[in-house]
Amino acid sequence: MDKQRILIADDQQDVLEALRFLLKAEGFAIEAVTSPGAVLNALQVRDYDALIMDLNYTRDTTSGQEGLDLLAQIQRVDPVIPVIVMTAWGSVELAVEAMRRGARDFIQKPWENARLIAIVKTQLALSEALRRGQRLEAENRLLRAEGKPLMIAESEAMAPVLTLISRVGPSDANVLVTGEPGTGKEVVARLLHTVSERASKPLVTVNAGGLAEGIFESELFGHVKGAFTDAKMDRVGRFELADGGTLFLDEIANVPHNLQAKLLRVLEIGEMERVGSSKTKRVNVRVISATNANLLEEVSGGRFREDLLFRLNTIEIHLPPLRERKEDIPLLASHYLSVYAQRYRKRLSGFDQAAMEALLNNRWQGNVRELSHVIERAVLLAGDSMVRLADLALRTGSGGPAKLEDMSLEEVEAFLIRKALARYDGNVSHAANALGLSRSALYRRLQRYNI
Ligand SMILES: Nc1ncnc2c1ncn2[C@@H]1O[C@H](COP(=O)(O)OP(=O)(O)OP(=O)(O)O)[C@@H](O)[C@H]1O
Ligand SMILES: [Mg+2]
Repeated sequence: MDKQRILIADDQQDVLEALRFLLKAEGFAIEAVTSPGAVLNALQVRDYDALIMDLNYTRDTTSGQEGLDLLAQIQRVDPVIPVIVMTAWGSVELAVEAMRRGARDFIQKPWENARLIAIVKTQLALSEALRRGQRLEAENRLLRAEGKPLMIAESEAMAPVLTLISRVGPSDANVLVTGEPGTGKEVVARLLHTVSERASKPLVTVNAGGLAEGIFESELFGHVKGAFTDAKMDRVGRFELADGGTLFLDEIANVPHNLQAKLLRVLEIGEMERVGSSKTKRVNVRVISATNANLLEEVSGGRFREDLLFRLNTIEIHLPPLRERKEDIPLLASHYLSVYAQRYRKRLSGFDQAAMEALLNNRWQGNVRELSHVIERAVLLAGDSMVRLADLALRTGSGGPAKLEDMSLEEVEAFLIRKALARYDGNVSHAANALGLSRSALYRRLQRYNI
């Protein structure tokens, strides 16, 4: 079995050396860091079985504030890691405050070796039991859940996605789901909610791409009667509707800049006001957001607040495009074949070899969604028992349509959009730019043309 790994953090080298010496002798693997930032980095890079940390880092402070702040941040990065804090002799109040903020136990400096080891071992055993229990519970919930979204993901490329869902699903951590259009971001958001303790509470969706700027604020936060001309009565916003549950903010890159600050505030302190009201309301909402934009690019272009990004992406789950998980294509294709064959009452037993090869080698700019549309059409077109290559009616990419003048205006538009997407590797922002469209205008067209 691998050694259990403990992260230790203190700004004093002699303390780190003493701890390292002691714990190594007990058979633990030790890593040492000297600042709160380094603790967070380390936790993001790998899993530790426990963290032992000092509460003071800058030489002239003894308040413990740095450590207390760090505890809050750790809760977001790794809500399950057992944290043992070190305090100076006699500062029990600080230790109690640390435990209130999520530390599991404390050690007073200078410590007694045997006692320190006993505390560490107890916490490791306890946490192991907790982790096991939590995972079981999450799995049970997933099995029990009715109407849970189906996710076909047997490929290697999807393994990290599944691991992350089962790890962070049960926590309250905010999750940002990224990936090209149609890769299953909404499916992941639903799964995360389903395995969470909030599963019995609502999952409320807001699509930032489809809302005009003017109504977006009242959609999110609600309004009171008279707040603006059309506000004929009070209205509850999505944040309040999602209270106790999960809010899914889809196409988050499209949140207007002036609303990003308000969003940040409710994420940071859980407080908001309805439009036109000065009464502050508290909401307890877990936020899952999704985008196919590159938010770092949006940040450097000044269109998206960096502080908001860091609130949203406590954990990021990236969905690989379908062309990077070809092993899943036959499974998805068969799944959709049986769904649509049943719907359209066709007896179809599968794909012939040429059809399957074409499915495997297609570029799938629209990913799983495009695949499902292609199969639906093929089921309708297919004659006898098999789906054949011609039934798929896949564009071969190279040739394109023969004559522009034979196409309808809509066909030309769809054609140009496909071309732009292909040129920019499915990057919607770049394609929209090249076409002279806003991102949301392009989105509407992608939906209309099933791209
Ligand atoms: N792994 C999967 N297994 C089964 N069905 C999937 C999978 N991924 C996606 N789908 C299906 O594909 C369609 C598109 O998925 P979804 O809406 O979650 O994509 P998305 O990433 O949110 O797309 P967009 O960026 O366009 O909003 C849905 O019908 C969904 O059920
Ligand atoms: Mg979506």
